[in-house]
Amino acid sequence: MPLDIIVGSQWGDEGKGRIVDLLSAHADYVARYNGGDNAGHTVSVGDRIFRLHLIPSGIIHPHSVGVIGNGVVINPITLINEIRELRDAGVTINPERLQLSYAAHLITPAHLALDKAQELSRGERKIGTTLRGIGPAYTSKVSRQGLRLSSLINPESLSESLSTHIREINKVLVSQYDAEPVDVARTIEEFRGYASILSPYIGDVSATLGAALNRGRRVLAEGAQGTLLDLDHGTYPFVTSSNPSAAGALVGLGLGVGYTERVIGVTKSFQSRVGDGPFPTELGGDIAEHLRGTGEKPWDEFGTTTGRPRRVGWLDGVLLRYAARINGLTELALTKLDILTGLEVIKICTAFQKGEQIFEYLPLGLTDLSHYVPIYEEVKGWKQDISSARSWEDLPKEARAYILRIEELCGVPIRLVSVGPERDQVVEIN
Ligand code: IMP
Repeated sequence: MPLDIIVGSQWGDEGKGRIVDLLSAHADYVARYNGGDNAGHTVSVGDRIFRLHLIPSGIIHPHSVGVIGNGVVINPITLINEIRELRDAGVTINPERLQLSYAAHLITPAHLALDKAQELSRGERKIGTTLRGIGPAYTSKVSRQGLRLSSLINPESLSESLSTHIREINKVLVSQYDAEPVDVARTIEEFRGYASILSPYIGDVSATLGAALNRGRRVLAEGAQGTLLDLDHGTYPFVTSSNPSAAGALVGLGLGVGYTERVIGVTKSFQSRVGDGPFPTELGGDIAEHLRGTGEKPWDEFGTTTGRPRRVGWLDGVLLRYAARINGLTELALTKLDILTGLEVIKICTAFQKGEQIFEYLPLGLTDLSHYVPIYEEVKGWKQDISSARSWEDLPKEARAYILRIEELCGVPIRLVSVGPERDQVVEIN
């Protein structure tokens, strides 16, 4: 069955948007299955550049339909702004081209206020969230107190459920965090406005995609964040509150396991992380600056949503092997190989050490990751510009050796390598 899932194999920001853009040229539907506007990808339409947070970037292709699944949490104002911006740029957005699951959950101002209050109260132990209300919105969902998108369809029940929801969170904000309560009446009025705009887009995503797959249409499921931020399988508690890993696509879109054809993991040629939490191969100094860039270019290592400089380090082979297993990866796309150009030596972490013991697999998943010391292998770097490479043979032998070693370490074939920011700066490996 032609469902392909694209997942981040690291801590997010692997350059998934780029790979989605390439593959969505052949997809009839591009579907987001997890997270919310904590994610972000940069998309260019003509000479305009957009930073989209919710709408799948595939919508740029006139033939593909954008879908937001039940696993996503939606801040309605972000979504409405994205619809407006895309329309202003000439992209057709109507209910035939964009469908939202009735079972996706809403992010409200109460969730935003709570995210902020909780982060503040954590002090030194903060998670470094994007402050987009993600954790509190999923908490409402799991505790069966959330508001689904379907509540927007009925204005009477919307007012009632919003009012109860905000009053409940206000009690916590005031008594537990000494924070300002959220204005109930104003929020109800705002949400009534959002309801009238978004209602026509709300439908049964599972039914739409299931029927399309049965007719042989291609669906591309696009994950936000990455495996190492997965609520269950990431570096808990320094994780997001959803399941970015491949299984999350099935639950988050309402599709069974049997539909899946390929699971494509996207990994950067080095490691990066924004926010707090363990990062064994983290680097400082000149090499970190080389990898991060200055922030002048859109692809430099600064967060799309928050603008925060990303922490960077050497590629972690142990964590990549872990991501291959958690997701059942069938192939990998390696991004930003060109950024490594000019380094004398490139290191890859092949195992971890704790005391006298060496680990190629971690005994308790990513628990206590901060207690392990990485063991590195060195690969020779290359000096020549690889940005015009379009085939395996065009790559310097040192770059090829690096790619082969990554494949060997995680047991997954690398099918795509990006060597620059432009659409065509890609090497396909068969
Ligand atoms: P939250 O998802 O805003 O709750 O943040 C939880 C953690 O996930 C923080 O460390 C964030 O920096 C990280 N995070 C959330 N979304 C992204 C993303 O799209 N890319 C990279 N990191 C993210």
